[in-house]
Amino acid sequence: MSTTDTTVASADDRGPVPISRWLWLVGAVILTAGVLFGYDQGVIAGALIGIEKEWDVSTRLTEVITSWVTLGALVGALVAGTLADRIGRRAAVTVAAVLFVAGALIEAAAPSPAVLVVGRLVVGFGVGVASVAAPLYAAEMAPTRVRGRFVSWYQFGITFGIFLAYLVDQLLSSGDRWRLMLGVSAVPALLLVLLILPSSDTPRWYLTKGRREDAVRAVERIRPDDPTAGMAEIEASIAEDVPQASWGQVFSRRWRTPLLLGVGLAVFQQVTGINAIIYYANKIFAAAGFESVADQTAATTWAIGAVNVVATLIAVAFVDRLGRRPLLLAGLVGMGLSLTAVGFAFRSLADIPEDPVTQTARVSNSGVIALVGLVVYIASFAFSLGPVVWTVINEIFPRDIRGRGVSVATAFNWGSAWLVSQFFLSLTDAIGQAATFWLFAALCLVAFVWIWRFVPETRGRSLEEIEAMWVERAGDPQHVVPGSAR
Ligand code: BGC
Repeated sequence: MSTTDTTVASADDRGPVPISRWLWLVGAVILTAGVLFGYDQGVIAGALIGIEKEWDVSTRLTEVITSWVTLGALVGALVAGTLADRIGRRAAVTVAAVLFVAGALIEAAAPSPAVLVVGRLVVGFGVGVASVAAPLYAAEMAPTRVRGRFVSWYQFGITFGIFLAYLVDQLLSSGDRWRLMLGVSAVPALLLVLLILPSSDTPRWYLTKGRREDAVRAVERIRPDDPTAGMAEIEASIAEDVPQASWGQVFSRRWRTPLLLGVGLAVFQQVTGINAIIYYANKIFAAAGFESVADQTAATTWAIGAVNVVATLIAVAFVDRLGRRPLLLAGLVGMGLSLTAVGFAFRSLADIPEDPVTQTARVSNSGVIALVGLVVYIASFAFSLGPVVWTVINEIFPRDIRGRGVSVATAFNWGSAWLVSQFFLSLTDAIGQAATFWLFAALCLVAFVWIWRFVPETRGRSLEEIEAMWVERAGDPQHVVPGSAR
């Protein structure tokens, strides 16, 4: 392996950081894991059209087929931490990739809706494992000064994967080739296996398992410029590790504030409707009067998929400059207003007679307003709640409860995603499209008030300063924050 291949500017003033060719490989692993995650989330939007044609599925079954990926992900995310500690980060990512391949093949060959649901669960389990193991692998492989960038590659990968899935849906929609749409995700999953096989596990994981020689070899590959310094950094950070707190401590009064903040942010990210729109985009556009499948899938690909990718890049560029609170609050204003407009568009659509042949409303001004409203909604989400919620969740927990705190918040996130995707269609049947979007808008307002009142700005504060803030709030002078000036 050659030494320095290229450099990137570092986030601070300490000059450029060398990036070895080996690290590009790690970057490719993270990106592919993110793309897979996004693909498996987004693909169902287009696949549902063909599935509903092949089998006469009820609304409830459509919801199950759509949402059980999130149920599998909930379980996968809960076991992933322990799995990644036991068998290693690399092996855990490999397990996720194998689950993706197996799930994709089960889905593609499903002889009945029940088998399809099993495939969705398996894929979901892979999504959950990948959602924990891949960022962990990225964070531990990257040199400190490019860590943020590595983790945001993952975020970018997810939105790009959703976009890619919509594009594949669009290309295959004319022939109702839903099996191929779902099966195609086996390709990036195989690519992930091929990418991760020649790479090693993280030096940090090897060291915690007492495998020093492997750790040295891994550091030589990812820090060819100065492996001795690299090794010293990792050993020092392990020496500073605090033992993981018990579950009792995680839920103790002292850490109630960060726990409530983490869970609150995770839940608000979902109950404001994002995955109802990601998963059911084509159905929403059909209801808005986009009659042909080609029109629906085109609107989904570009208005939802592409806008999501571009706006996420904006957030990644500005989150450290503008701060978390302004982005979150501004995003919620955009989301709330656009959802209100979408609600009004659907209400006036209800007054337009359906086309007697296609049984859908005809595209009208209201349909266009719904389209523009959804674009504004997706853009507002993608520069705010999408990435920023994950940034804040990963920085508000004190060190000793961070692992468990993040997994509790992640589990609440998947749980709420499941609730929304499981009941969205039934809700629109029961109270109508307009009222459903207004309900999401009202929840944006609640989220706005809650964040404005309770979520502190964390930009520019060290993790120790954030921890010291909670201790002060809980009025616990006995607790000494490691590394803090207090
Ligand atoms: C959310 C996902 C969502 C995605 C959309 C993520 O931050 O956690 O549930 O599907 O954004 O881009």
